[in-house]
Amino acid sequence: MNEETKLTLLLRVALATAFTCVAVKWMVDQLDPTRDKKNKAKQQAQALMTKLRIKTNIQLTEYELAIASNLVDPESIPVSWKDVAGLDSVLQELHDNLILPIKSKKHFPSQLLQPPKGILLHGPPGCGKTMVAKATAKEAGMRFINLDASTLTDKWYGESQKLATAVFSLAVKIQPCIIFIDEIDSLLRSRDTHDHEATAMVKALFMSHWDGLATDSSKSSVVVLGATNRPQDVDKAILRRMPSSFYIGLPGMEQRRQVVLTILKDERVASDVDLETLARLTEGFSGSDLRELCRTAAVYGMRDSLKSTKTTDDTTMAEEITMENFSQALAKMRDSKLHCGTLPLSRIDLD
Ligand SMILES: Nc1ncnc2c1ncn2[C@@H]1O[C@H](COP(=O)(O)OP(=O)(O)OP(=O)(O)O)[C@@H](O)[C@H]1O
Ligand SMILES: [Mg+2]
Repeated sequence: MNEETKLTLLLRVALATAFTCVAVKWMVDQLDPTRDKKNKAKQQAQALMTKLRIKTNIQLTEYELAIASNLVDPESIPVSWKDVAGLDSVLQELHDNLILPIKSKKHFPSQLLQPPKGILLHGPPGCGKTMVAKATAKEAGMRFINLDASTLTDKWYGESQKLATAVFSLAVKIQPCIIFIDEIDSLLRSRDTHDHEATAMVKALFMSHWDGLATDSSKSSVVVLGATNRPQDVDKAILRRMPSSFYIGLPGMEQRRQVVLTILKDERVASDVDLETLARLTEGFSGSDLRELCRTAAVYGMRDSLKSTKTTDDTTMAEEITMENFSQALAKMRDSKLHCGTLPLSRIDLD
């Protein structure tokens, strides 16, 4: 075999190897069931970053881009603090503890004037935890990552851990930033010896990076905001990292009046509707129940008005919601709540 043949053979082998490598990579990419999801997330992240005017010179890794698709555009959030009724003290505390220290950092250089490492909102279902978090995203004027637990899952070993790390590295790059984890008990529940290895490692990484931020808290402004109705299921070490916690409980009478007033602010309500009476009759109702009550009453109002008037396609009906509609809606809801066992028996009106 002469020199020239040897060289040609070597070249052919090199070409064949390179081609095989590219082909195998392409095939693996094509076979990856999450490929479309990843590409979409990347495009979404880039669009969001441009919209949020995040500096283009920030270099993000592939994992950080995947997490960036969870960034929230405050303008797209329909609720603000004005829509949250009866929780003024919680909102004030959130403003003073979370927003103020970050906004006034320049003027007050004290080491103590830092936001807490983490904030936990807890309390019974339907009382406004998620709503408060959403409204905070709108009001805070900070970057807001609404962390979707499914973003952290990946079929390849080690990828979930890299994504968990990316949550914090991205937050530090785009700070000041709030990382919101809704139903935090499902992602960061108490560690157990039977935990899957990947899950255990994600939890451990979360804890170490979370504390890593705290050690550098004089420079970084990253806060984790969690919401749950099962705080007893959240890992104790995670709870420690959320030293500031707010209980959002069932609304009292005055709070219920305020919630109904806020929900009905843009509706046509008859003059006979007495909010005090409604608030008195709805003991044990959450904010979400009150919203459902108003919705049902509005539907009954619409039904009554359709019965009494003939409509054509062009007519716009704007019937008022009457106290009678509220009474019917209340009777229906109480009945169904009693059967579900969600209304305590001590709270039944016997008349
Ligand atoms: N304080 C409130 N003011 C106005 N509306 C409220 C209030 N609390 C609850 N609501 C209404 O109830 C709905 C559900 O509330 P939200 O999703 O915040 O409950 P949650 O506490 O997160 O419940 P869960 O624990 O089940 O997730 C809200 O979208 C809103 O319409
Ligand atoms: Mg919620």
